[in-house]
Amino acid sequence: MVKVVAGNWKMHHGPDAARRFFSRFRPKVENGSVRLVFFPPDLSLEAAIGSTRVPADFGVQNIHWEAAGARTGETSAEMAREAGATLALIGHSERRHIFGETDAEVDRKVGAAARAGLVPVVCVGELLEERRAGRLEEVLRRQVGAFAGSLAGVAEFMVAYEPVWAIGTGETATPDDAAEAHGIVRDALGTLGRAPVLYGGSVKPGNAAALVSAPDVDGVLVGGASLDPDVFARIAEACGGAGS
Ligand code: PGA
Repeated sequence: MVKVVAGNWKMHHGPDAARRFFSRFRPKVENGSVRLVFFPPDLSLEAAIGSTRVPADFGVQNIHWEAAGARTGETSAEMAREAGATLALIGHSERRHIFGETDAEVDRKVGAAARAGLVPVVCVGELLEERRAGRLEEVLRRQVGAFAGSLAGVAEFMVAYEPVWAIGTGETATPDDAAEAHGIVRDALGTLGRAPVLYGGSVKPGNAAALVSAPDVDGVLVGGASLDPDVFARIAEACGGAGS
């Protein structure tokens, strides 16, 4: 499987910065050796899509589950699609822990993305206290179980395992930690098919190759290190070299 290298820009890079990013982003990877995905802020999506000079897919970082309506500040899956997105990040830990998004809401968003023809990229991951209490498997099974039903019959989706303690902290799961968690996620997905399961949490050029070489790790979802075009290019190169 070609490794997925996804950048989640979070609330960084307005339209001008997005254009500047793509004027410099030139990974030395053979065409098709990695699948590049970007999640810019909604307001930068059009500028990003219009300025990239490498094959890449684009997604939004969040959607609402309604197609339209009185939901001030929200964006629907249909609108994201019309604006050029083909994927939607759903249930990122910052959405869950800063904005209080629940498993039930994550499930509704997965259904909405699928209905609109967006590829859901659903994030799961445990808190440090949960890991320390030996609850990794229980948490991952609960989170995956909450949305798995909405993925039945969906042609394409991805899951991102992002241990909350590793996001933006500089702490990274070891390749063994990632392989263990990815194995649980894959088992919890059951018969849904062999979807890519990405690792996220302080991925950098120096650890990306080892992580994507671990069993069941099909790519990376990168936050902070995706903001700099040269650094993100090095991550793409490291993953391209890691083969399948
Ligand atoms: P990070 O973020 O790479 O900055 O740790 C990952 C993510 O939140 O998707």
